Amino acid sequence: MSLSIKNADEIIKKLGQVIYVAGTQWGDEGKGKLVDILSSQYDITARSAGGANAGHTICVNRNGKTEKFVFHLIPSGILHEGKMCVIGNGTVIHIPTLFEEIESLKEQGIEVNDKLMISDRAHLIFNYHKLIDGIQEERKGDQKVGTTKRGIGPAYCDKASRIGLRVGDLDDFNRFAAQLRENAERHMKAYHFEFDIESEINYYRDVAELIAPYVFNTTAFINKAYHEGKTILIEGAQGAHLDLDLGTYPYVTSSNTTSAGACTGLGLAPTRVNSVVGIVKAYTTRVGDGPFPTELADMEGEMLREQGGEYGATTGRPRRCGWFDATVVNNAIDINGVNSICLTKLDVLTGFQTIKIGTHYELDGEKISYIPANLTDFQRVKVVYEEMPGWTEDLTQTESFDALPEKCRNYVLRLEELSGVPINFIGVGVHRNQIIYR
Ligand code: GDP
Ligand code: IMO
Ligand code: MG
Repeated sequence: MSLSIKNADEIIKKLGQVIYVAGTQWGDEGKGKLVDILSSQYDITARSAGGANAGHTICVNRNGKTEKFVFHLIPSGILHEGKMCVIGNGTVIHIPTLFEEIESLKEQGIEVNDKLMISDRAHLIFNYHKLIDGIQEERKGDQKVGTTKRGIGPAYCDKASRIGLRVGDLDDFNRFAAQLRENAERHMKAYHFEFDIESEINYYRDVAELIAPYVFNTTAFINKAYHEGKTILIEGAQGAHLDLDLGTYPYVTSSNTTSAGACTGLGLAPTRVNSVVGIVKAYTTRVGDGPFPTELADMEGEMLREQGGEYGATTGRPRRCGWFDATVVNNAIDINGVNSICLTKLDVLTGFQTIKIGTHYELDGEKISYIPANLTDFQRVKVVYEEMPGWTEDLTQTESFDALPEKCRNYVLRLEELSGVPINFIGVGVHRNQIIYR
């Protein structure tokens, strides 16, 4: 646990040329904020998986006031001049949503033009994928996943079925239109919905020219940049426990949200990733359905939600809140290879008389340090808690670890001890400046 980072200038020296920023819980850990901070140092910021199901929030001072940005698909490095942003081959893209995001950035005075590259291999989300997402959820009834209804699962399903359409397919429009028509007809039959195929095809005919300037072989670009010594920051979306293979299946998203997925999602080899920074919220949240052992369905949960502003950045849904769960985080550390932690939202815990930490689980009276694959077993685990005294001081102006109240420092040190990974960054507010280096 020797790694220490004293300021922004030390980031690359300590973390290396290529890093992955990983969510370690169920998403919304505060990845966007750290990516914005780190991307001031990195030449390229890249998204590797997921789509507009993500919502990454950044608050910065511009023109004398605090401005909020919420990124869904565009990498959170876009606010920095002279840096490149890449949307990699592992992502799924709904072009109308992407253009909306580009437009809304423009309205906030940010031009993406020469800064954004989209992989020709990224798969497209069509409007029928969004409809299917809704129909599948409805059919599942009380077994629903609680998806963002952005069409993510159905688009990845077409990809895995080898009928998906990719951004680069727009180059051969006749073939593109024929496949789109065939796919739409197939889905309409299977899911019994009406869909205006021709207007969808016409939209893409019009849009092909507009998207073309952004489309590249981003794998070739990233690897060339790597050989030239450029620095690369991969921005994770979602969190480890939403990973399709390793998360709380079936209550997961449809991509690999861990560091291995970041490599396939960009075409960058695992041996080239130097560090994985795990974003760890100082408590736990989850939006959507699925198991959540440390969830608080009481006043304390409500207090976390209100103090933490825990409402979804994509759907506005209230997030479920609970205590810190060391088993969840430690599992994410292992499957991602996390070697540095950014602890976020520590300020939100101010005012709790005592704070609980779920240190481990017991299943049938045995201590376990893994997450059972079988959700019935997972729902049966007994969380073993320890309690720590809380603090009342406001943390939002604190600039160093030593200046934090002692009880708060003890909480951080205990989390560090439980994880065995250095906590190098501590978030004490929404703003870009509200970060402690350590
Ligand atoms: P992401 O999806 O992981 O990027 O996280 P979201 O943006 O969905 O949710 C994190 C929320 O917490 C956003 O509203 C951020 O502005 C906010 N946030 C991030 N870091 C901190 C922090 O250290 N303290 C507080 N109070 N809010 C934070
Ligand atoms: P960021 O990047 C939190 C959740 C949904 C649902 C499940 C599947 O902001 O951390 P999907 O639409 O992907 O098929 O939904 O995954 N989910 C997220 N939860 N943060 C996210 O992204 C999420 N992206 C998807 O709520 O439970
Ligand atoms: Mg989010």
